[in-house]
Amino acid sequence: MSRESLLVFVKFGSVFVAVLLVMIVANSLVGRAHGGAEPPWETFNPTAADVHEGRQIMERNGCLSCHTVDGFGGQIGPRLNGSAQRKTKEDLFLWIKSPIDVKPGTRMPQYNLPDESILKIIGYLETKDTLQVQP
Ligand code: HEC
Repeated sequence: MSRESLLVFVKFGSVFVAVLLVMIVANSLVGRAHGGAEPPWETFNPTAADVHEGRQIMERNGCLSCHTVDGFGGQIGPRLNGSAQRKTKEDLFLWIKSPIDVKPGTRMPQYNLPDESILKIIGYLETKDTLQVQP
């Protein structure tokens, strides 16, 4: 390799390295901004359709075999009217996501529901803050 082509090689080589560095730094900054984003239960704003789906997800998963809502359901778990008042959204989310992580030995099963479904359930429970006898 001639001295000249070696110089060109070194020059472009360092430009390449600089571009790589900028990309790495930019990427980590974006990652940090993303990591600091608000948790999903803070930003989720349930629509009427979400609330309706939340109720359906609960019916499909048998939540009501243990829990009572509006006077109907099982007695193994607590009545869910008012649960959105007793617990914060964060507590509800973490609980429904993984009950055994919150309370080892609890009788409530692990469902591994997607976050989106949990948020819809919470949206539904928020509409059940007070005991209503009507379904
Ligand atoms: C086998 C019975 C059972 C099923 C099925 C069940 N749970 Fe539970 N759940 C419990 C029990 C028991 C508790 C009380 C926690 C404890 O002390 O262990 C509870 C607690 C809760 C709480 C907290 C209530 C509060 O006010 O403290 C929520 C919310 C909840 N369950 C939602 C759900 C949802 C949503 C489903 C369906 C996806 C579900 N549960 C299915 C038994 C059940």
